[in-house]
This record gives sequence, structure tokens and C-alpha cells, in this order.
Amino acid sequence: MNQIDLIKKIPKAELHLHIEGTFEPELMFEIATRNQVSIRFKTVEELRSAYNFHDLQSFLDLYYEGAKVLIHERDFYDLTMAYLKKCREDHVVHTEIFFDPQTHTERGVAFKTMFDGIYRALADAQKEWGITFHMIMCFLRHLSEESAIETLKEALPYKDKIIAVGLDSGERGNPPHKFERVFKMARDAGFLTVAHAGEEGPAEYIWEALDLLKVKRIDHGVRSDEDEKLIKRLVEEKMPLTVCPLSNIKLCVFKKMTDHNLKKLLQKGVKVTINSDDPAYFGGYMNQNFIEAARDLNLSHQDILTIAKNSFEASFLSEADKKRWIDQVHE
Ligand code: HPA
Ligand code: ZN
Repeated sequence: MNQIDLIKKIPKAELHLHIEGTFEPELMFEIATRNQVSIRFKTVEELRSAYNFHDLQSFLDLYYEGAKVLIHERDFYDLTMAYLKKCREDHVVHTEIFFDPQTHTERGVAFKTMFDGIYRALADAQKEWGITFHMIMCFLRHLSEESAIETLKEALPYKDKIIAVGLDSGERGNPPHKFERVFKMARDAGFLTVAHAGEEGPAEYIWEALDLLKVKRIDHGVRSDEDEKLIKRLVEEKMPLTVCPLSNIKLCVFKKMTDHNLKKLLQKGVKVTINSDDPAYFGGYMNQNFIEAARDLNLSHQDILTIAKNSFEASFLSEADKKRWIDQVHE
């Protein structure tokens, strides 16, 4: 079997996906028209041609702008359902999605409106196609601790439907320790924790995410490579990294895919997974990330199977469900 057929065939879990980052230009225009919101780009092509980023912030500026057309429950439903159709095509059987309440509540959309739309689509896809899911609520790290605490309080009535809290947005200058207290509050309330760290920020931020935020996974984490002691710890603790290859190229974390350190990390024994991050902006969904990384980094069939197995091991599924899926990851 060739590499591409293998990637398409095996079941996979996605662990690093921002639902707002799945907003394809066509759907953005459709919803903007229906909500009578204007966007500064005239056509889908013009919008797409603006997807030339030089760093994380240049992407985030466009990402937050795009999210502004999402107003009604139906908009969040349509956004999420469009992503779940891609999961079905790519044989992603389980997804743990990030959502950013502050992106919406800050502009007057009710937490409930956003949450219900996303959740209803996830529940429908589970019923229709058997795609299982968890929801992870991210705090925007460029905003204050106070705003994060406010968001956590708003989420408490939905606690049973949110498995974990996370941390995203502009990393540089917004270290994990800024959110130590709100993460403690979240853990005390029963949430698991994850955090973006070591995407653009230094290895030090990964140490902080582990020691202060007590995370179960590091999102990105590719800069761990700069610190041998940290690598040793990640390996010893079997700490998963949710790596996003196409994202890292689009945001210039690595110049080109052949420079990516995913294979090197895997060879050192780090529990690496592959994910799509913001697929509408970065050039592809799950399988495209696998295909380009596998091609340019010469991943073996065994590497591909290991990464897919890691995705289940690193998930928040029950031990029985993890085992059930891992048993199905083979040639
Ligand atoms: N990094 C940080 N914040 C984000 C990202 C990312 O890759 N995508 C959406 N928000
Ligand atoms: Zn991300």
C-alpha cells in the first residue's frame, strides 16, 4: 500500500483544531450575506489571496476579523458541521476541538449562542456518522487574567460538556504563568488542562505549562527541541505534543516542510501527533497534514502508524475506547 492510501485508510483522532480556524471563505461570504455584515474583501479569491502570513500575529489579525461574521446559533452550527464533514472524508473518527468564547462574547455574542451551535453540530455528527468528540475551551492569552476568570465562570453551567481548558492566541509576551491562577481554578472545578506553548514562544514556556498549568498535552511544543533536558522530561512523562505541520510552515515557524523537526522529535521518543490547527487558513485538513509531512520528511509506514496510535493514546477518550481504536490502526 502506498503512503497516501495508508494515511487515508487508518482511523485518526484530531487533538488540535480551532473551530474558528475551519471557516472557509465560501461559507464566510455566505454567512456574511445572510447576516448583512460587510467584509473588506470583495471576493472569495481576494480573501484567500490575503492568506500570506509572516508570523502568528499576522494570521490572528485575519482570523479574528473573519470570526466577526458569526452571530447566530445557526452560524456556529454551520461552521462546525462543515468541519465535521471534512473529518468524515479524512477518516477522523474522534475530534477534540478548541473554541474561543472571548472572540465572540467580547463583541456581544452570548456564550450560549456560540456554545449551543457548536455543540448541536457535534452531537448531530456523532449520531449520524459516529464521530465522537470533546470540547476544549481556550482562553485568549493576549487578554487579561480577569477576562479569563470571567470566561471560566460563564462556562461553569456547561461544565459537563467541556472536558478541558486551553490557552491560545499570541504567545510571545504572554507566558503561561500569567494564567496560573485561572488554570488552578479550572482544575479545581474538574477541568483537564492543555496549553499552546513553544510554537513561537521559547522552551521556557513549555516548562511553565507543565509545572504551573499542569497540562496533559502541549499544543505545538516544537521549540522543545532547543532544550535537551526538556526533551528528556517529555519522553519520560510520555507528554504528547499536538504538532501542526502545515500551520508551522504557513506561520514561518519552519521555512519549509523539509526543515520541520517532527520526525526528529519522533525519533527521540516524543509522543508526537499530527493535527490541522486552522485548516481553512493553512492549506489543508488532517490528511493533507499527514501527506505533506510524510512526503517531505520521509516518514515510514511505521512512523505513520505510530503517529495515528499516538493520537488516540493522547486523547481524552476512555482507556477502553483508546484500545478499541488503536487496534484498528494497521496496514
Ligand atoms: N496558535 C495560537 N493561537 C491560535 C492558533 C495558533 O496556532 N490558532 C488559532 N489561535
Ligand atoms: Zn492552535
